[in-house]
Amino acid sequence: MSHLKRQGRQAGGSGLSVRACGPEDLATLVPIYAHYVTSSTATFEEEPPALSDWQGRLAEVRALGLPFLVAELDGGVVGYAYANRWKARSAYRYTVEDSVYVGPGVQGRGIGTALLRALLEGCATAGIREVIAVVGGDDPAASLALHRGCGFRPAGRLLRVGFKHGRWLDTRLLQCSLATPGQ
Ligand SMILES: CC(C)(COP(=O)(O)OP(=O)(O)OC[C@H]1O[C@@H](n2cnc3c(N)ncnc32)[C@H](O)[C@@H]1OP(=O)(O)O)[C@@H](O)C(=O)NCCC(=O)NCCS
Repeated sequence: MSHLKRQGRQAGGSGLSVRACGPEDLATLVPIYAHYVTSSTATFEEEPPALSDWQGRLAEVRALGLPFLVAELDGGVVGYAYANRWKARSAYRYTVEDSVYVGPGVQGRGIGTALLRALLEGCATAGIREVIAVVGGDDPAASLALHRGCGFRPAGRLLRVGFKHGRWLDTRLLQCSLATPGQ
């Protein structure tokens, strides 16, 4: 992570870079995530978190030594990705869950891929071995393509575990192993 903290890294096409998220970026993340909370079933949150909630999330992720990244396109923050604990119980400490969100106007330009690749690199540097993606909702094509393209493999499907916008929703689990098999 140190190289990401020091300087943005060019990723994908010109004008796109990925760097560590700072507190000053959070106000830009609020509306990106709120869009998906209110208009989609990609997340099972139903109330958009406030800026203060985001400040807490960033502090929690940083305290765990895990990556929290933003993507900049032509100087503006257009997406983010972070890793957080998969489960709180201590034996799960080498396993995290990823979150990747890209602004609704800039999808399909490689931003999600740049974020997720950098996130996996940051997780490996932090000593994480397994990364879980929980792909929820009834329009999972982009998230499934993103994760498969970054090396995730299907790990199961939970049926009707969410209820949002008047319907029952499944989640698909995908897993990416960062550890060398046998170690
Ligand atoms: C999922 C998401 C992060 C992908 O970001 P992105 O910048 O659009 O992704 P990329 O441009 O890097 O493309 C990644 C893959 O997704 C595919 N994709 C992108 N948008 C798509 C869409 N609307 N429908 C189907 N596939 C799509 C791309 O074709 C690409 O697949 P390929 O490598 O097989 O060609 C973005 O769509 C998003 O923020 N969605 C809402 C939130 C969400 O579902 N987040 C994941 C939960 S952790």
